[in-house]
Amino acid sequence: MVYGFWKKINTLRRAQGKPIMILAPMANVTDWAFRDIVARCGKPDVFYTEFLSCDGILHGSKKFEGELYFKKKEKPIVVQFFGSKPENFYKCAQMAQELGFDGIDINMGCPDKSVEKQGGGAALIRNPALAVKIIKETLRGSGKLPVSVKTRLGFNKIDYDWIDNLLSTDIATLSVHLRTRKEMSKAPAHWEEAGKIAKKAHRADKLLIGNGDVLSLDEAREKSRFYDLDGVMIGRGIFQNPWFFSGKKLDSPQKRIELLIRHVGNFEKLWTGGKNFDVLKRFFKIYVNGFEGAKELRVELMAAKNKEDVLRVLKKSRHFDS
Ligand SMILES: Cc1cc2nc3c(=O)[nH]c(=O)nc-3n(C[C@H](O)[C@H](O)[C@H](O)COP(=O)(O)O)c2cc1C
Repeated sequence: MVYGFWKKINTLRRAQGKPIMILAPMANVTDWAFRDIVARCGKPDVFYTEFLSCDGILHGSKKFEGELYFKKKEKPIVVQFFGSKPENFYKCAQMAQELGFDGIDINMGCPDKSVEKQGGGAALIRNPALAVKIIKETLRGSGKLPVSVKTRLGFNKIDYDWIDNLLSTDIATLSVHLRTRKEMSKAPAHWEEAGKIAKKAHRADKLLIGNGDVLSLDEAREKSRFYDLDGVMIGRGIFQNPWFFSGKKLDSPQKRIELLIRHVGNFEKLWTGGKNFDVLKRFFKIYVNGFEGAKELRVELMAAKNKEDVLRVLKKSRHFDS
């Protein structure tokens, strides 16, 4: 079993009595443009890319150059793949080594219809034999890189056979979004299951990362201590506060506007027109929020098509610092 960077971070954090803190993979969110912002505000212990289609990468689609891009500052960084063809996971794992990623994660929890239709993401929960084959082929291609899986508690119901199936393989780390596929993101995460899964994972010599609804660093530390987890993964919490991993509160409106301009600049550099600018709209509320005139600015920002438009709108704010 290859533990790679996971072992080093786990040893360090265990000695400090703290969990490994991870920024969750999020499609159209955790590209380099945003990871750079998070790294500046307060770096997590581990970054993940957004999920990337093995089939799409091997097809040579140009957009993957942007999605696979990272800088040293984001290391350790794990690339997350989805798909259903074991041979493609093998090839993508080899590519991940060449590109300098620190780990490879397999998505076995995404409920997106287009992903499931291909037999990937959460559809693999219903096909445990294929899931094991995919893990084996990824491991065969991964060399010295550790392989992990991110999944859910089950498909329609909590399914310990599924968890055991994953723990019987040679993955180093298992991350569990503590909901079933059926629950999507609607029901509260089942943290009460976390302790039992952590025990199983530790018996199998694997790290267990818990995920779902965690909104502060203190909450992550408390849950990790209570359930004896190795780490906690944060998704939507970062939308409320880009300084999440530093434990600091939201910075001033001026600082946040500065960050928004940097984020938009990063986005244009990374994608040079290859991704729709509208993807950025979900971020406006992070940066432009909680001060007088913020709502009106956001309404205007929604019509922006590029960095110039964003700057033109932001210049109207008294918090804009030229
Ligand atoms: C916008 C968005 C995109 C997501 N994309 C991915 C993804 O690419 N891969 C993945 O494994 N999970 C993805 N997820 C799920 C998150 O990684 C995480 O499991 C989920 O949001 C629960 O954690 P949270 O309550 O901390 O947000 C996504 C979630 C959101 C909100």
